[in-house]
Amino acid sequence: MRDIREALQQSLGDAYQIERELPRGGMSRVFAARETALGRTVVLKVLSPELAATLSAERFKREITLAARLQHPHIVPLLNTGSAADSLFYTMPLVDGESLRDRINRERPMPIETVITILTEISSALAYAHEMGIVHRDIKPENVMFFHGSAVVLDFGIGKALSAATHAAEETTGRITQRGMSLGTPTYISPEQAVGDPDLDHRADIYSLGVMAYEMITGHPPFAGRSSQQVMAAHANQAPEAIGKRRTDAPVVLTQIVMKCLAKAPAERPQQASEIVSALKEPRQSGQVTGGSWFHRLPVWLPWAIAAAATGAALYFALRAR
Ligand SMILES: Nc1ncnc2c1ncn2[C@@H]1O[C@H](COP(=O)(O)OP(=O)(O)OP(=O)(O)O)[C@@H](O)[C@H]1O
Ligand SMILES: [Mg+2]
Repeated sequence: MRDIREALQQSLGDAYQIERELPRGGMSRVFAARETALGRTVVLKVLSPELAATLSAERFKREITLAARLQHPHIVPLLNTGSAADSLFYTMPLVDGESLRDRINRERPMPIETVITILTEISSALAYAHEMGIVHRDIKPENVMFFHGSAVVLDFGIGKALSAATHAAEETTGRITQRGMSLGTPTYISPEQAVGDPDLDHRADIYSLGVMAYEMITGHPPFAGRSSQQVMAAHANQAPEAIGKRRTDAPVVLTQIVMKCLAKAPAERPQQASEIVSALKEPRQSGQVTGGSWFHRLPVWLPWAIAAAATGAALYFALRAR
């Protein structure tokens, strides 16, 4: 079978010149491409043909059109959409920076000041999009990048476009499709997504934001090191460990709002992302943010380990001296 890249280029004609492929993530292939009309490089994301075959192209494009209305300093806008090589694609600006995934891997856990800045930026993007009636559905560190130092959210509205377009196709054909799309990592999904609730709303994004915040603060997501099934079950039923047990220098307001985001019931979470933006102003105003000194980022158990080692050594020398 011919590679999709070649087929895509042929199908796109002169409109885009594919330059290179970016590392593969979820259900799509992602390319950097030169947009001929405006002489700029964009990112062109093409759905796998298997996935595209299960969708209503018309419904997908309609949903993409809605998402393309979003204009916000912390949201990467959609530029264009179309069909090519038996599939569907959309384009967006190329963000020349690292992802939040790279950043967490490099700086684990992050200074509190940085966490608050990033959370405020993402929450303001969520507040705006939710106000416009658009839910992300796939908030995770891979979908946040840094552009000139600010966090920007990618792929807004795509999750809804995919599910709505699948349902539309199912209604037309009368067949329930075997989902071609992978569910991706369940690390950040809300309890309602974990149990397959079709009526999820913007509060699912607030939960996923909470998981990401928990990982930024403590260095690890609340439910890690288990199988996908176990992680899904934990999101649905298990309480996350208190942040204070994993890190001692996080301001109470921050830990409280993050733990509230992680409530199992959507009604117990912050009801709007703007509440998170407001809550995060407080630690700065009251001077609680320390800037995250190296000392505070040491593991909670370290002082106990040092004390135990010192006591052991003292005992040893005391006994030897006798
Ligand atoms: N606009 C963009 N600018 C720069 N890099 C991008 C852009 N969009 C995606 N990427 C990069 O392309 C790669 C694949 O992205 P993709 O969105 O397919 O994966 P994902 O976010 O892991 O999965 P998905 O969003 O499908 O659930 C990632 O490394 C991502 O950082
Ligand atoms: Mg993505």
